[in-house]
Amino acid sequence: MAANLNTGFTAKQRADVVAGLNKVLADSYALYLKTHGYHWNVRGPNFQALHVLLEGQYTEQWTALDAIAERIRALGELAPMGYGAFGNLSSIKDGDAEKEWEGMFQELLADNETVIATLRDAFKAADDAGDEATADLYTQRLAAHEKHAWMIRSTLGGK
Ligand SMILES: [Fe+2]
Repeated sequence: MAANLNTGFTAKQRADVVAGLNKVLADSYALYLKTHGYHWNVRGPNFQALHVLLEGQYTEQWTALDAIAERIRALGELAPMGYGAFGNLSSIKDGDAEKEWEGMFQELLADNETVIATLRDAFKAADDAGDEATADLYTQRLAAHEKHAWMIRSTLGGK
């Protein structure tokens, strides 16, 4: 049962914002997990640079998971947890350790773009509800994933 909070949001606004946060958390978790896995399994002549780049990205992403989940708790709902719950909520598929590095990076680029699109969708519900704290969190996540996407794109030789 939802907590009875007196913070100026209707139950509907809170439900809409939390639905967005759940999806953002699941997509962010799936991307974190894949980025960490590709950090382990990436291979190629530029191994060290690719390995270190991915370490920076998964570390940044891992730290953000906590802020997203705790925002759900601050809104009085329980945060989704476990592979089953995240698998049902996320549109990001598992990676493939056999892929060569370019394939891994193309996939990570597309997945960062998926997270960015999910954030933009979720932002609308937060904005409509006047939920500045969630909107602020999304703004920070958008900037972070756009930066991750830029670095992956540039590693692949694109602008
Ligand atoms: Fe490592």
